[in-house]
Amino acid sequence: MVDTWQHRHILSLSNFTPTDYDTVIRTAVSFRDVLSRRTKKVPTLQGRVVTNLFFEPSTRTRSSFELAAKRLSADVLNFAPGSSSLTKGETILDTAKTYLAMGADLMVIRHKAAGVPHVIATELDRLQSGVGVLNAGDGQHEHPSQALLDLFTLCQVLNPDHPHIDSLQGKKIALVGDIIHSRVARSNLWSLTACGAEVHLAGPGTLLPPGFAQAFQRSPVDPPGLTRRIVQHATLEPALVDADFVMTLRLQQERMTQHLLPSLREYHQQFGLTHDRLKICKPEVKVLHPAPVNRGIELSSALMDDPARSLIAQQVASGIAVRMSLLYLIGTRGRDAVLLDE
Ligand code: NCD
Repeated sequence: MVDTWQHRHILSLSNFTPTDYDTVIRTAVSFRDVLSRRTKKVPTLQGRVVTNLFFEPSTRTRSSFELAAKRLSADVLNFAPGSSSLTKGETILDTAKTYLAMGADLMVIRHKAAGVPHVIATELDRLQSGVGVLNAGDGQHEHPSQALLDLFTLCQVLNPDHPHIDSLQGKKIALVGDIIHSRVARSNLWSLTACGAEVHLAGPGTLLPPGFAQAFQRSPVDPPGLTRRIVQHATLEPALVDADFVMTLRLQQERMTQHLLPSLREYHQQFGLTHDRLKICKPEVKVLHPAPVNRGIELSSALMDDPARSLIAQQVASGIAVRMSLLYLIGTRGRDAVLLDE
């Protein structure tokens, strides 16, 4: 399966093919099996160095990448901007080159500005370093590992024993809320539509401008038969009707430079998810949220805490197996690696 893998870095899902998603999901299934054992560790990346460069706050993504790297037996370096030489004026590229000089093999990068992981990857390529870069969220641009763990979560719900991307064909997935500021929404638009789901976007006009979906209708790597299906709505109800899944997004107030909403209460009334509102969805509908959650705003506390509806905990759990897959696929590219035991 790994023979088909072409990516040296994972910076965006706009250049992922259905085959790439299939490879990630299959690999994640293998690692899910590892994580269900008593000894949840394999020697796959033994002796390699994974550096977490998080220039922006993070709880789950950073911890999840760290644990995934440790489960693969890599050595992990964690960088914290507040206590680093950045405060003395060092540039981000020089920080990356410092870790390169220490022998980093993989760099996981989060930054509040779109494009930073790409700039670092380009410089590392220019230096012929062989280091692989994983984008862990760059500004409003993309968050590939989040969308891939969302994809794995959906595939596991639809087919627990044999999670597979084909199970998404024809499923209706509503993406709700602060879409304009969301790198999670952008990455999910690429992945879900490539796997055959029909994505319905819903949000207030200030957070979902008309024509937003246009940019996601086609990627240059799409196979000829692939039609990406995206529908935009100005209200919530049409997106929810008969939906199989509803993914709601955090109101990213740190990215709002002006008042884009009349009030949080009004937002919750119009776009907040509750048990009652989900009655027009498919009876077995499930809810996703990348977290952190503003409780009572994007969704009610009761819905968030309802294990029959909320997949939030499964999303976090899926993150470990998926990030193990990504580190494995990038970290062993071109090498004769053993996936599980030696
Ligand atoms: C997301 C992010 O940072 O983009 N969170 C995450 O990685 N789990 C979404 C968000 O912050 O709302």
